[in-house]
Amino acid sequence: MKMQKAWFYKEYGPKEVLKLGDVPLPTPQQKQLLVQVRAAALNPFDSKMRQKPIHPIDFPVVPGCDMAGVVVSKGNGVRKFDIGDEVYGNIQNFNAEGNLKQPGTLAEFIVVEENLVALKPKNISFEEAASLPLAVQTAMEGFKTAGFKEGQTVFIVGGAGGVGTLAVQLAKQLYGASQVGATTSTPKVEFVKSLGADTVVDYTKTRYEEVDEKYDFLYDTIGDSMNSHVLAKDDAPVIDITWPPSNPRAVYSGLTVSGETLEELGPYLESGKLKAVIDPTGPYNFSDAIEAFRHLETGRARGKVVISHFPLKKAFPCFVQHQE
Ligand SMILES: NC(=O)c1ccc[n+]([C@@H]2O[C@H](COP(=O)([O-])OP(=O)(O)OC[C@H]3O[C@@H](n4cnc5c(N)ncnc54)[C@H](OP(=O)(O)O)[C@@H]3O)[C@@H](O)[C@H]2O)c1
Repeated sequence: MKMQKAWFYKEYGPKEVLKLGDVPLPTPQQKQLLVQVRAAALNPFDSKMRQKPIHPIDFPVVPGCDMAGVVVSKGNGVRKFDIGDEVYGNIQNFNAEGNLKQPGTLAEFIVVEENLVALKPKNISFEEAASLPLAVQTAMEGFKTAGFKEGQTVFIVGGAGGVGTLAVQLAKQLYGASQVGATTSTPKVEFVKSLGADTVVDYTKTRYEEVDEKYDFLYDTIGDSMNSHVLAKDDAPVIDITWPPSNPRAVYSGLTVSGETLEELGPYLESGKLKAVIDPTGPYNFSDAIEAFRHLETGRARGKVVISHFPLKKAFPCFVQHQE
C-alpha cells in the first residue's frame, strides 16, 4: 500500500492528540479527482470534531475540509477537470450521508468529487484559494436563508472572523446591501471598515442596545443571537450559524458544499472585488499545524488560518489516468 504524510489523531482531545505520520494514499473513484494539496485552511469545525463526538468518524482521522491544489490523477467519469488543473474547494460534503471523507485536507494528497471543486482563479494564490470554500459557502448561505434583497441593510456580528470577513465583503459586492454594520474588538475596527463595513461597532465599548439603527437582516456569525437580535427590525430575519442558536427567534443556517458556489464567485475574485483574508500570523508551515490550531482556538483569528508548504513529491510514478 502506498503511503503519504498527513496529520491525524486516533482519539478525541486537545490539539496535542494530532500526530504527523503516514496514512494510506487514496485512489480516486468514479467522478473523483486525486489532488496534491498545496494549501489548506482550518475551521472551528475541525477543532470541534477533534474535541468530542459530533459527527460520525472512524479513527484515525486526518482533519481538514478546505484545500487548494493540483489535480494529479482522476477516476472514471470525470468531465470537468484534467491532470494539472489548479482547483480549490471544501472536500467534506456535509449535505451527504455518512462519515467525513478521509483523508481530510491536512494530507499531501486527497480525493474529492469533481462537483465539489472549482478551478482556482489565476490571480489568487493557493493559500488565498484554500482560505475561501467553507467560510464563503457559509457566508453565502446565510444571505440566501434570510432571503436578502439588494438595497436592504445588514448587521454582521463578528465581522473579523473567517465567515464574518467574507460576509461583510459579500454584503456589498455580491448582494448590493445599502448599509453594512458589523462588530469587532478595538484593534480590528479599521480592518473591518476596510472590508466595506459602513458602521463598525467596537463590542468592547458599545452594547448592542446602544446602537441607534435597526437592520433588515441580523447575521450573527459568533453565536450571540440571544443578545444581538435587538439590532434587527421587528420582522427582520435573525440568522445564527452556531448550533443550537442561543435565541429562539434565530434561524440556523448551515452551508451548501458545491463547486458551483465557488464558480459563482470567480468574477468577483478575478476583479479583486472579493478578497481572501488570511490571518496575519500565517500562512503556517505544514509542519506547524499544531501551532496553527492553537491560534485558531484562541477565537481571535482575523480572517482564515491557513496552512502552506505541504511536502511536495517531485514525480508521480504511481499516478495514472484511469481509462474509460
Ligand atoms: N453553520 C455552519 O455551517 C458554520 C460554518 C462555519 C462556521 N460555523 C461556526 O461559526 C462560528 C464562527 O466561525 P468562524 O470560522 O468565523 O470563526 P473564527 O474565524 O475563529 O472567528 C474568530 C473571530 O471571532 C471574533 N469574535 C469573537 N468573539 C466576538 C464577539 N463577542 N463579538 C464579535 N466578534 C467576536 C473575533 O474577533 P475579535 O478578536 O475582534 O473578538 C475573531 O476575529 C464558529 O462557531 C463555527 O463553528 C458554522
